[in-house]
Amino acid sequence: MNKNVFRSRHQPVLLAAAMKYLDPKPGERYLDATLGGGSYSYTLYQKGARVLSLDWDPLMIDQAKKHYPCPNASWRLRVANFADLAQVCQKEKFCPLAGVVFDLGLTKWHYQLGRGFSFQENAPLDMRLSPELPQTAADIIAASSLAQLEKWLLQIGQERFAAEIAQFLKKAVGRGLMAAEIAEGIAEIYRRHHVSPRNNPATKTFLVLRILVNQELENLKKGLEGAVASLAAGGRLVVVSFHSGEDRLVKQFFRRQEREKRLKILTRKAQRPAAAEVKQNPLARSARLRAAEKNEN
Ligand SMILES: C[S@@+](CC[C@H](N)C(=O)[O-])C[C@H]1O[C@@H](n2cnc3c(N)ncnc32)[C@H](O)[C@@H]1O
Repeated sequence: MNKNVFRSRHQPVLLAAAMKYLDPKPGERYLDATLGGGSYSYTLYQKGARVLSLDWDPLMIDQAKKHYPCPNASWRLRVANFADLAQVCQKEKFCPLAGVVFDLGLTKWHYQLGRGFSFQENAPLDMRLSPELPQTAADIIAASSLAQLEKWLLQIGQERFAAEIAQFLKKAVGRGLMAAEIAEGIAEIYRRHHVSPRNNPATKTFLVLRILVNQELENLKKGLEGAVASLAAGGRLVVVSFHSGEDRLVKQFFRRQEREKRLKILTRKAQRPAAAEVKQNPLARSARLRAAEKNEN
């Protein structure tokens, strides 16, 4: 692993908007479900809140311990899947909560850690966020039928060349190709069809593989349920998502909870970053923030 990766900080997205909705108060309990580079957690901590930060990737927890001098009784860091949020809160005796925040996806570091998340990496197609996960992206491709792979690319990624890409992925994994070679093979399929998309042609395929490897949608659903169960009345839930599958799940979850009178939605439309933030931090491009408040029982 390239240790220099951590020399530059991960720049948080929509931090001010998230804090506006969380409105942290000294002494109250806040759970950051996705520690990453730690800016959300640190901001909550600096405002005097008590913070429990989770990350499924132990490397993120190690980095935060090195970078921030302060993790102590008021700021706890734990390696955990946010799908287990409610159980972790109970074990830590850290509920009811005044706020929960999810800032989904990856840090910029993840694209340089040699796990095959990036189109440019000369690294195996692994894509696991946690060493607990049993299967890499290459394992999933090898173990799945062509028809199943094609279905995932179509249904999760709306990939127009799903059938050809599924065939290519099977061959590529059989030959042990690296992430950058696989991204180039997908670009070649697009060139054959004379199609040049705005983003890298491998964007949808890589996203689908990452979602499958890390069971992202299942974990998010469980995490949101755990968050609502762990919030105090009047507590706030804030979610920043980065792709349409996640945002749809959050939107539908919030609407259902509102119908069932558990949550009041605070953002009728998802909040997007201002042009200036996107210019400064291209990772913010697709970010959408949604917030809700827990009702009295
Ligand atoms: C976009 S980053 C968070 C950035 C953070 N808000 C900051 O201020 O730097 C997302 C983080 O969520 C973590 N993550 C993704 N899925 C997770 C899960 N199921 N459980 C816990 N952490 C997860 C990733 O490892 C990553 O570090």
